[in-house]
Amino acid sequence: MEQKLTMEKLVNHCKGCGFVYPGSDIYDGLANTWDYGPVGVELKNNIKKAWWKRFVQESDNSFGVDAAILMNPRVWEASGHTTSFADPKMDCKECKMRERADNLIEEYCAKHKISGIIPDKMTTDEMQAFIEEHKVNCPKCGKHNWTPIRQFNLMFETSRGVTEEGQNKIYLRPETAQGEFVNFLNVQRTTRAKVPFGIAQIGKAFRNEITPGNFIFRTIEFEQMEHQFFCKGEDGEKYYNEYKQKAMQFLLDLGFKQDDLRFKDHDKLAHYAKAACDIQYNFPIGWSELNGIHNRTNYDLSRHQEFSGKSMMYTDPITNEKYIPHDIEYSIGCDRLVLATLCNAYDEETLEGGDTRIVMHFEPCLAPYKVAVLPLQKNLSEKAKEIYKNLQKHFMCTYDEAGSIGKRYRRQDQIGTPVCLTIDFNTLEDNTVTIRDRDTMEQIRMNVADIPAYIQNKLAF
Ligand code: GAP
Repeated sequence: MEQKLTMEKLVNHCKGCGFVYPGSDIYDGLANTWDYGPVGVELKNNIKKAWWKRFVQESDNSFGVDAAILMNPRVWEASGHTTSFADPKMDCKECKMRERADNLIEEYCAKHKISGIIPDKMTTDEMQAFIEEHKVNCPKCGKHNWTPIRQFNLMFETSRGVTEEGQNKIYLRPETAQGEFVNFLNVQRTTRAKVPFGIAQIGKAFRNEITPGNFIFRTIEFEQMEHQFFCKGEDGEKYYNEYKQKAMQFLLDLGFKQDDLRFKDHDKLAHYAKAACDIQYNFPIGWSELNGIHNRTNYDLSRHQEFSGKSMMYTDPITNEKYIPHDIEYSIGCDRLVLATLCNAYDEETLEGGDTRIVMHFEPCLAPYKVAVLPLQKNLSEKAKEIYKNLQKHFMCTYDEAGSIGKRYRRQDQIGTPVCLTIDFNTLEDNTVTIRDRDTMEQIRMNVADIPAYIQNKLAF
């Protein structure tokens, strides 16, 4: 019988196998922080590599940057983050629970089957009135005794300066996008890129999120993979639609099923956006945002021109036309994609004879280890290590000689290793090994010399 994947089950699996551990674990953790373990970091790196390959390497006109996390605070004034990057929060005066007013309303409407209420479109006063009128209670203690709604800025502040008096407030960036905008002209000039072209970046972002977050779905420190595509204003719609398709195709190529993905247009557009949508994934917590695609017009570059006093004009080398390009943004949280990939790969199978196995059906290009080398007996370890050493030059490999071969296969299934090699006494005679496929569990015999090409073939993305 198919078992439904719950977040709790996934968290336990991830901790037990070394994908993800609670942050600061031996100090009882720090809410909303997680550490990637030995197989988790490989999975995450492979996801970043796949994204970079698709959106930079295989794109004729996209360039990467790696901008500083700490930026001039004027950047965040220009982007609007200092004034409007805030969540409506309220505290329960009884149990001190802090909640987002929009989430409370959403949950209340879902529970009481009230339709047509979109908290994103409500003002602070409207949310306050709704909560009072419907007597929305605290989900923790059940009482109705809230503080008024206050806007809570999500940026983490820190300070810089040699003396206490001379300190300046700076921020840990809440998105990587601004590092791409402020480098628009640097990149354009150094690469001699012609509009349309893109700038991509992968890096950490920080948000002082109020509501805790379903494992690595919503954390206070996370990585984003963002791509800004600069184009002429009249081409914005065309490239917006193109990036919607590219973003969807990327996920399908990573092994996601179309039935588990859907586009969701934003209910409320930011004042500068012409169009915006998310791709949602059917997580164990329900349909939720995986990534966003926005037509941000020329708002960001115009604001940086205004706040920095530096021209953001692009001159078309053929027509001599001068204009500030528009931007199509594609943004995906790397950790959120790791979570979706884990959910998509997780499977509990019942085998012939009634045994069960947990298997992670990762696309081979994403699997933490590509191959596991398993000597059938300990006295075959010399030959096995020789093969292992050689394969390490090509791929991330793992070696295991502890326990029965069946148990060792199960351990590899749990971390999604696509290929296991078993070294037996015949290997000493004819240099062949048994190759076992993770998904079909079929076994074939192969010469050691042919293994790198066999595995490489599986890794195509
Ligand atoms: N530059 C646009 C931007 O940052 P966003 O919708 O706020 O847009 C983009 O974030 C993506 O970053 C989201 O689709 C999600 O995948 C990821 N993300 C946002 N906040 C996150 C958080 N607190 N934890 C993990 N991932 C997050």
